[in-house]
Amino acid sequence: MIICKTKKDIRDALARIKNSHRTVGFVPTMGSLHEGHLSLVKIARENADIMVASIFVNPLQFGPNEDFDTYPRQFEEDAAVLKSQGCDLLFAPTRDSIFPSNFSTQVTVSQITENHCGVSRPAFFGGIATIVTKLLMILAPDIAVFGEKDYQQLAMIRRLVRDLDIDTQIIGGPTVREEDGLAMSSRNNYLSKEERKIAPSLYRELSNVSDELTKTQKNWMGLKPTLESNLLKAGFSSIDYVDLVDATSLELMNQPNRAGRLLAAAWIGKTRLIDNVAVMGM
Ligand code: PAF
Repeated sequence: MIICKTKKDIRDALARIKNSHRTVGFVPTMGSLHEGHLSLVKIARENADIMVASIFVNPLQFGPNEDFDTYPRQFEEDAAVLKSQGCDLLFAPTRDSIFPSNFSTQVTVSQITENHCGVSRPAFFGGIATIVTKLLMILAPDIAVFGEKDYQQLAMIRRLVRDLDIDTQIIGGPTVREEDGLAMSSRNNYLSKEERKIAPSLYRELSNVSDELTKTQKNWMGLKPTLESNLLKAGFSSIDYVDLVDATSLELMNQPNRAGRLLAAAWIGKTRLIDNVAVMGM
């Protein structure tokens, strides 16, 4: 695996690959890799000749009171894992090379980012849209793979790529879960032993409601209060949102009459967990 720390190095390496007509698959990450990231690497390898990953903890997607400074950084370990998974190139730029001191441009994807996580994390999606646009412009990969765990991020990136005519196919990778159902996330390490026991109930409760919606075609607004009170009873401290949305546009839905997605964010103590499940439309 070749590690490129500058934009010039990665562009030169990719130019050689593209000249030999090989396709490039890309998995952007902020490091702190777990099985979820590795499943995305596998998808990229299966869909392209050359697999490129990036590690960059993007300051623009953290709010002022969020965990940018303490976000886990373990470059050597992550690089070794990527190498063992057959990654060919790793792009690991410095902060200054990506965001020089007078950096003044922001990419904004409206509508799809305004609800759900966009309400409590106003800087988040603009920060992601900006870094993802930059990475896709620097690398120009044939495909890029993003996890369904961050469902609103994935939907936003699909919209961004369509709107800006970026010539990269976006592939969503299914969420990878622990045995008890908890979606894998770098932030699960913040949970205490007690909190970790509560965490899987988010997926369990979402799955129960999804089954009920699919089987009975009940109205979502009738089920939402019970879902919220079940999460609080299970030990969640507060709920940011639970919404039933159209699987593509993320517009709010009440009747499950087309492919939908149940999205949720809830807090256990100081840790905010997000998750989502599919709802089959009739
Ligand atoms: O999903 C992530 O890890 C990040 O949001 C991403 C896509 C790497 C952009 O920083």
